[in-house]
Amino acid sequence: GLRRATNVHWQALDVSKASRAELKLQKPVMLWFTGLSGAGKSTIANLVEKRLTALGKHTYLLDGDNVRHGLNKDLGFTDVDRVENIRRVAEVSRLMVDAGLIVLVSFISPFRAERQMARELVEEGEFVEIFVDTPLEVAEERDVKGLYQRARAGLIRNFTGIDSPYEPPLHAEITIAGGALAAEAAAERILDYLLKKGYLG
Ligand code: PPS
Repeated sequence: GLRRATNVHWQALDVSKASRAELKLQKPVMLWFTGLSGAGKSTIANLVEKRLTALGKHTYLLDGDNVRHGLNKDLGFTDVDRVENIRRVAEVSRLMVDAGLIVLVSFISPFRAERQMARELVEEGEFVEIFVDTPLEVAEERDVKGLYQRARAGLIRNFTGIDSPYEPPLHAEITIAGGALAAEAAAERILDYLLKKGYLG
């Protein structure tokens, strides 16, 4: 069974999220990218982070492939492991939002319930769901890492879109037609959104 800590109390601290964010001249937010493998999540998130950094904003990009080399290297791709993957990532990005950062979170995050859980970890307006809506056919046709081919050949099990489900968002703040819209144009749209909604100070 799982051991849980008891007698743990929340420690009140004097420096607040608001004061950390104020120093950075921005509103902290979780930019939650979701979509199939090869949809273009990381490419777009990377462009957005570059643009934000050029504007002097304080950011951090959490990316599936990278986090799975460290914090989450004990996790695979069963449903249970994906749920735990996203739970940890959501908690880490919550801490980063508390630090006053604009956090870009780029994971397949295939289940609605876990994305909802992440949304509920932060305050109203601190979660922006970005659906990189690239059709399976397009992602599979690109097959940048050759994973779809391996999944079709039965060499990879539980592959999203093949033999593992993907639940598309129903109310994403931003939907990007990943098949059609170039990454640069997608990044531009996200920047516009952040500017209009007052995240950039
Ligand atoms: S999840 O579902 O959110 O836990 O997945 P994530 O942490 O984003 O990891 C997805 C990347 O891992 C590679 N990979 C797989 N993806 C899906 N299904 C299976 N079985 C799998 N095995 C390895 C793949 O390169 C994903 O990268 P992206 O960047 O999404 O293409």
